[in-house]
Amino acid sequence: MKEKIRILLTEQEVNEEIARMAARISEDYAGENVHLICVLKGSVFFTCELAKRITVPVTLDFMSVSSYGNGTESCENVRINKDLDEPLDGKNVLVVEDIVDSGRTLSYLMDNLRSRNPRSLRLCTLLDKPDRRVTDIKVDYTGFVIPNEFVVGYGLDYAQKYRNLPFVGIVEFVEE
Ligand code: IMP
Ligand code: MG
Repeated sequence: MKEKIRILLTEQEVNEEIARMAARISEDYAGENVHLICVLKGSVFFTCELAKRITVPVTLDFMSVSSYGNGTESCENVRINKDLDEPLDGKNVLVVEDIVDSGRTLSYLMDNLRSRNPRSLRLCTLLDKPDRRVTDIKVDYTGFVIPNEFVVGYGLDYAQKYRNLPFVGIVEFVEE
């Protein structure tokens, strides 16, 4: 089986939506700082594009958690592979995610971050697949609600491939 990628969201559509999200975030945090937490590796492209367009002062930190192996199904386990460098006390923390799928990773992560006493804690995601949700998770900023398909590009991978695609595409499997 070979993979074929069908475009779901073009580079222009994604970039325009990120600009809208950044404008909304800049308005909501007017007069304050925002501390972005990039959830590696998938969110790295989105975080950069978003951060560049936010007009209030931004600080950044990175965290790596895993909930997926090399396949397309979520597993129940969430593990912290790399923790944050800085404490969160008193900060306006905005978690930046590539995609919310089952919501398991995020629900674990948000509880974990909440216990570190941030001043505020919000969640921002480029993509949302609500059909697959198994947890009750509040998303504050959503880019696109997408159908229940496995997508790649703009940071998202299939077996670590395709993260660098500048658009979001659906993975299709075809006979060789
Ligand atoms: P959740 O815990 O099921 O919400 O899964 C979240 C993580 O699974 C995301 O941060 C992605 O890394 C990965 N994931 C979920 N859906 C997709 C997809 O369609 N393509 C690539 N990765 C995905
Ligand atoms: Mg992720």
